[in-house]
Amino acid sequence: MINIAIDGPSAAGKSTIAKLLAKQLGYVHIDTGAMYRCCAYQSLKNNIELNDLIALDEMLQHMEISFDKAGNVFINGEDVSKNIRTNEISMRTSSIAKILLVREKMVAKQREMAKAKGFILDGRDIGTVVLPDAEVKIFMVASVEARAKRRFEEYKMQGVDVDYDQIAKDIEQRDYQDMNRETSPLKKADDAIEIDTSLLNIEQVVNKVLSIIQKKE
Ligand code: C5P
Repeated sequence: MINIAIDGPSAAGKSTIAKLLAKQLGYVHIDTGAMYRCCAYQSLKNNIELNDLIALDEMLQHMEISFDKAGNVFINGEDVSKNIRTNEISMRTSSIAKILLVREKMVAKQREMAKAKGFILDGRDIGTVVLPDAEVKIFMVASVEARAKRRFEEYKMQGVDVDYDQIAKDIEQRDYQDMNRETSPLKKADDAIEIDTSLLNIEQVVNKVLSIIQKKE
């Protein structure tokens, strides 16, 4: 068994692919973006301003994030899987994820969860910061158009009324924020393999990653 790091910008397909790979390989998937989303959700719920580090620290100390086998996400036992996926929370997450205090807490938790082998983590800084020793590192990218189209279809399927242009604009803004922040910006690790998923379907991406893993195992 090995550990697998999947990084890349939002909506490039990281979580979908990581979930399927974990199922096929019998590995455990940790969606680290969901953990930052929990921080954003909880701070909004508790009316905490993002520049109030004392309140944020207090919040983090009383917040237990957990996953079940199906990938549902819980804060102190409450299922927040759906609540953390709104566009409002996505944008707030990108802002809260810049804060060093928040990153330190989340990275420590992620390392603790994935201290053995057999884990697939997806996020922005897995190959560079969280698991620099991961045996396989994938950097997944896709054009803004492809990513906005995917998110648009996802929202439509869920019956959420959204505007395509707004989604594309928000994706671009999150890319910018995630790539240009001071702490652990989104960037490809030197030893990561880049996969452009713009023109590939899910099965094709899974097969590409599987063939990379097989060479390493
Ligand atoms: O992957 P997802 O879109 O759910 O991530 C939400 C946000 O969380 C990202 O836009 C990014 O700002 C932040 N994030 C991060 N580091 C990670 C995972 C996510 O900063 N490892």
